[in-house]
Amino acid sequence: MSMTEISDLLSNQTKGFSLQQKFYKDPGIYQQEMDRIFMKSWLYAGHVSQIKNVGEYFLYEMDTESVIIIREDKDTVNALMNVCRHRGSRVCLQASGTQKLLACPYHGWTYERSGALRGANHTYPDFDKSGYALKTVNLKIFHGMIFINFDKDPISFDAIEKDLDECLIPYCLDKTKIAHKQSYPIKSNWKLAVENYCECYHCVPSHPEYAEAHGRSFPEEEMQGLLKQVMEKGEKIGLSNSSINYDWLDSGGVGIDRSYDRYPLLKGFVTGSRGGKPLAPLLGDIKGYDGGTADMHIGPITFYLAYCDHVVIYHFKPLTLDTADCEITWLVNERAEEGKDYSLKELIWLWDVTTIADKCIIENNQKGVNSRFYQPGPFTKMEEFEQGFVDWYVDLMK
Ligand code: FES
Ligand code: FE
Repeated sequence: MSMTEISDLLSNQTKGFSLQQKFYKDPGIYQQEMDRIFMKSWLYAGHVSQIKNVGEYFLYEMDTESVIIIREDKDTVNALMNVCRHRGSRVCLQASGTQKLLACPYHGWTYERSGALRGANHTYPDFDKSGYALKTVNLKIFHGMIFINFDKDPISFDAIEKDLDECLIPYCLDKTKIAHKQSYPIKSNWKLAVENYCECYHCVPSHPEYAEAHGRSFPEEEMQGLLKQVMEKGEKIGLSNSSINYDWLDSGGVGIDRSYDRYPLLKGFVTGSRGGKPLAPLLGDIKGYDGGTADMHIGPITFYLAYCDHVVIYHFKPLTLDTADCEITWLVNERAEEGKDYSLKELIWLWDVTTIADKCIIENNQKGVNSRFYQPGPFTKMEEFEQGFVDWYVDLMK
């Protein structure tokens, strides 16, 4: 689809209605999304606990891109493009590991952990190694979370830091560890997966396990009384009462979307567990349970649920035009021991069962959207956040 056709399609988009079919199916639109959104945004890639020791690395993969996140030394972590400077092979093939040097499996060029080319056999005498380092992308570590940005001149991360720093301090996310990480591949365009995450209109019919515990399943007005109690308790246990709301920014703010706000759990629940009881030792400096949880959002495709005793990170990645990955990471206090301080099965139960259900409804959604008979339908009051995402998307693509 040409730029003119995309532009016509955008002007035909009715506000308050779901997107037209082509936005989920057209390869030209998908390429534009890559350039305008994913190559410009700060993207959550992983957690520092994955690369504690020198030489440890993991891969971050999205669309056609693969990035090696590697610890060069005690103080330095690099994000190197996993594309050999000889003839382009992937250099690292394993999703994670430890490497003193990075060696390309094709013809054996070797690279330092900084990305500098160290060895290349049988090159011509005038070959200058200094011109063939692995390309790097921008990297920022924020409260133990590693973010990358592919843009040559990336938008500053400062606004995220300034707004969310205070809210995050009590959780001490840099002193957590990954209890579990799991991919849920979804046969849908990435937007249907994100849209589904952004509304809880479906929670009561689709997620009985979530709905019986979380106030987000119900209209905000009905939750005001409970929220007041949570805010009062939250202050006492050391949580910030700030509510930050910079979701879905205009084109000047692509990639630094950010928000943090708490909401109540329902009667008898102190965390997102089966039955409501605590799941793991409290995080960081938090001194108890406030009967609430926090929703957080950093960049366009990463969402967080911060309970008092664990944090769940949702990262949605486009893999191709019609496949996406929902990667979930469960963080617990770094001192917590599995089997003694928490049961892994119980810890992941809620968001595993919920995501399996989501995968199913998102894939069914894509099947319907693929139909010749699909027509955009109206959003409801409980889909305001999703509508915000759609409005943001339409503005950005214009
Ligand atoms: Fe890597 Fe040839 S492509 S050494
Ligand atoms: Fe859901």
